[in-house]
Amino acid sequence: MAKPIYTTHLGMVDILPDEVRKWQYLENLIRHEARLFHFEEIRTPIMEQTELIVRGIGQLTDIVSKEIFAFSRGDDNYVLRPELTAPVVRSYVENHLDQRGGSQKLYYIGPMFRAERPQKGRQRQFHQFGVEVIGSDDAVADVEVIAFMIHIYNKIGIKNTTLKLNSIGDPESRDSYKKALKEYLKPNYEELSDVSKKRFENNPLRILDSKEKEDQPFIKSAPVIGDFLNDESKAHFEKVKQYLTDLGISYEEDPYLVRGMDYYTKTAFELISPDLGAQDALAGGGRYDLLIEEIGGQPTPAVGFAAGMERLLIACEELGISLGDEKSVDVYVVTLGDAARKWGLTKLPEFRKNNISATMDYMGRSMKAQMKDANRENARYTLIVGDNELNEGKFTLRNMQESDESSLAFEEVKDRLRNQ
Ligand code: HAM
Repeated sequence: MAKPIYTTHLGMVDILPDEVRKWQYLENLIRHEARLFHFEEIRTPIMEQTELIVRGIGQLTDIVSKEIFAFSRGDDNYVLRPELTAPVVRSYVENHLDQRGGSQKLYYIGPMFRAERPQKGRQRQFHQFGVEVIGSDDAVADVEVIAFMIHIYNKIGIKNTTLKLNSIGDPESRDSYKKALKEYLKPNYEELSDVSKKRFENNPLRILDSKEKEDQPFIKSAPVIGDFLNDESKAHFEKVKQYLTDLGISYEEDPYLVRGMDYYTKTAFELISPDLGAQDALAGGGRYDLLIEEIGGQPTPAVGFAAGMERLLIACEELGISLGDEKSVDVYVVTLGDAARKWGLTKLPEFRKNNISATMDYMGRSMKAQMKDANRENARYTLIVGDNELNEGKFTLRNMQESDESSLAFEEVKDRLRNQ
């Protein structure tokens, strides 16, 4: 085959029809379950203001410092959204969603963009589904969010997962932890990686999320934030754990889990799958009680998670979980000659009106080629039409599975297919 002139960008892939069917299956399932949890869908633009993402996620995070796709046009700075928490919060503030009353229970499914080095389970354009609950500081919200996340995987049949859980506390707890962390790291400052050196002064917590080799020995024996939580943060964390236990959701505490964005407060969690290889995080999230205020709204607590769709598909593949059916069509109209072709074209809408999926040959092929095509398209029935059939007003309906044929008037054909 000739090499194509144009290809997709690195780390960006086409989702072809046979794959799209699986995506639609998953998306339908997610939408259905979201409705059962009473989450409402929100859709925001693919591009946001760069400043929102920088402020929301944090200047010193990997996402902002290395991975955003950003450009300017006129006086505006655009960024392809790397995630949806900051954009959803922007939308909440801009559209005064607080005025709808109560807490806003929102979900989304859509593409995100991060200029990472592509590998299995890591792309530059990838897709997330996620949930943001804005307006509640109650541990019930944290636990409902986690329960929804796990429910989706269970429903699909992915049960072998580990929920990692931590609390990174409120600002007061974090301040005392930061001090302790700096004290601990100070004697080894020179041995830290360059990025961690940069983070040492203003954002030492980020060092715990470092993937650099030099930093690993220091991360392993660093003080843990759990020892620095104040009473309020501790009480919240205890409640989250208690409610999880009440719901029968098991978890593993991971005192070094800090996540990749600066907006987190208190609860932080990740869902890990042993079926994914190096990129083993199916989903992640947490509480972000300061973000709404940070980007100009009223102080409002919130919690959410996001999950990678591609990683979900990889896990299904690894586990042999089938997602939906093969392609198929109820009836393929096989036509012989111009009059039959015209008849077929005008009868297709009648099938569809009756909820019967229908197609025909678009390429003027022979009857044999049309039958072959009908097989390839997994047609359940073919309706064979030529001059004789048109004269007699009786058409040959062939059940492709059972290979039996009946000669029927068009109304009878419709009745037969409607009742299948
Ligand atoms: P995150 O951990 O950056 O969190 O992303 C969530 C999930 O998206 C990951 O666990 C992973 O499955 C998937 N993911 C991330 N990057 C890639 C990539 N390059 N290729 C493929 N999949 C990827 C967030 O985005 C937060 N906004 C989650 C959140 C919502 N926190 C509170 N609310």
